[in-house]
Amino acid sequence: MCGIVGYTGFQDAYQVVINGLRRLEYRGYDSAGVVLEQPHHFDVAKTKGKVDDLVAISKDFVGRAHVGMGHTRWATHGVPSDNNSHPHLSNNGKIALVHNGIIENYDVLKIMLTEKGFTFKSETDTEVLVNLIQYFMDTHPEMDFPTAVRSALNEVYGAYAITVLHDDFPGVLVVARLGSPLAIGLGNNEYFIASDASPFVEFTKEAVYLEEGHMATISLEKGVDIRNIKDNVKITPQIQELKLSLEQIEKGGYEHFMLKEIFEQPKSILDTLRGRLLVDEGIIKMAGIWDHLERINQAQKITIIACGTSWHAGLIGEYLIEEFARIPVEVEYASEFRYRNPIITEKDIVIAISQSGETADTMAAIKMAKEKGAFIYGICNVVDSSIARITDAGSYTHAGPEIGVASTKAFTAQLTILALIALKLGKHNGHLSNQEFMRLITELDTIPQKVEEVLEGTHQITKEIARKFVDAQNFLYLGRGYNFPAALEGALKLKEISYIHAEGYPAAEMKHGPIALIDENMPIVIIAPKQGHYDKIVSNVQEIKARKGKVIAVVNRGDTQVADMADYVIEFPETSECFSPIVASVPLQLLAYYIAVFRGANVDQPRNLAKSVTVE
Ligand code: G6P
Repeated sequence: MCGIVGYTGFQDAYQVVINGLRRLEYRGYDSAGVVLEQPHHFDVAKTKGKVDDLVAISKDFVGRAHVGMGHTRWATHGVPSDNNSHPHLSNNGKIALVHNGIIENYDVLKIMLTEKGFTFKSETDTEVLVNLIQYFMDTHPEMDFPTAVRSALNEVYGAYAITVLHDDFPGVLVVARLGSPLAIGLGNNEYFIASDASPFVEFTKEAVYLEEGHMATISLEKGVDIRNIKDNVKITPQIQELKLSLEQIEKGGYEHFMLKEIFEQPKSILDTLRGRLLVDEGIIKMAGIWDHLERINQAQKITIIACGTSWHAGLIGEYLIEEFARIPVEVEYASEFRYRNPIITEKDIVIAISQSGETADTMAAIKMAKEKGAFIYGICNVVDSSIARITDAGSYTHAGPEIGVASTKAFTAQLTILALIALKLGKHNGHLSNQEFMRLITELDTIPQKVEEVLEGTHQITKEIARKFVDAQNFLYLGRGYNFPAALEGALKLKEISYIHAEGYPAAEMKHGPIALIDENMPIVIIAPKQGHYDKIVSNVQEIKARKGKVIAVVNRGDTQVADMADYVIEFPETSECFSPIVASVPLQLLAYYIAVFRGANVDQPRNLAKSVTVE
């Protein structure tokens, strides 16, 4: 949800900012802008479109400055347009600001500033903030730049990460965060600012992640001065060593990040299991959960909160935890949970699942559950993300950076963690016999290998099937039991990146509505592993074929019954039903990927979406 880059140092600021924006483009990509500090003015270029469009209009900025900042936008207030793009300048042209988030009370502030004579060129909330800073400086001549930023921020509600430059304070960058992330890279005689560390990972391994409600004034002369926005109390920076490598955030020969990430799954699942699943010792070792096993096992209920793909993982988590640990589980969209009045007490456990660890609705839902006394367990991919930090305990999915907007490897890593948690709880509370526990963990250990096999075995066939359905307008995805949420996720993948309307349903529910849609033009992806409810699925396939629907069956290797009725068959290795969504999801990701590619869609940056949704 908008990417911010800032720089001060000895390098060409334009190059650092543009390269950084390219790395952050996953956060939003409907407009982009750059501003460079010049003696007594700013060079500004901004445009609707991608970073490439920005480069096309600003090539001659190369080599002009050592201080600058840039922005890649995901529109909230005002359509994507040149005027609404960031940076925004104050009316006197002296202050430039880039912003990620939403200023909720921008309308009242805009009225106030308009009454004072300010004018606005854009529809954005951001332009209000930059003029509010000018207003403080105009009306308080004694006020310096950082104080004016702080004063303005104390007047706004909402969420923000901002970087601000002032013409009269050359070489000074003021940054602040509330709700949206911001990292400061500490180089040797240079400083970087970015929404995540990826823009500066090749220049420094040391970073400070700005905390909620903090701001920093950064200059080569005075270093990094961090303060509390509310009361200006000085804060000692916590310097962290970055584990991120350049290789992890590059495409590595793949055409798209999404394809690379699909193919990384054997490794990402293995990394998620590493050190936790110790089959020889017959144990699951999870540092995050160990101290809290009793509390979790005695929970009245577990509520899983998440959004998007993470919510689908949560649904599978419900099946896993209820089956193996016999603790009641509810799964809620974080956005619904936070705005109703859910029954949550201190006897409850809330598991928050989030790849980015920044999703605004999930954050807000956690805060609400915390206030009601629940114990919050986080499952996040991004280390040290906001959600990882506000939860009471948690486990990281070690999937590595996920850059494609459509989540793939983070999803299967989330399923892996949820399986570990369910088995660990079940073993601990005695609902799972030692024998059954051993059988399941031995099986879980084979999943990375099975995912490797499914990638090799289905890559070509899914590509061929994808070609046949490039012009489809609708898709149905059906599954039962553990594979019902996998069907939801398969449908979500397809609609996110190909813009084909797709719906997921429990297979049996088909006859209560979706069956009306079935004719010879309707492709239906049906996930039908041998375990679980195979016979029932066979009947569902018959019902579909009786109405001439086109069946793409995702079945176990060697299947004949469903395969014989299907128009297209994708085979995956057999595994226990509870782990089958991990393996079966892989060909569904490939199918969505290739359909989107053949339709000419921008797979890594689908229209209107963003990877990290830091606004409500
Ligand atoms: C966005 C992304 C999805 C993701 C969802 C939740 O919509 O495009 O891929 O599943 O946010 O994100 P989170 O980071 O909380 O898992």
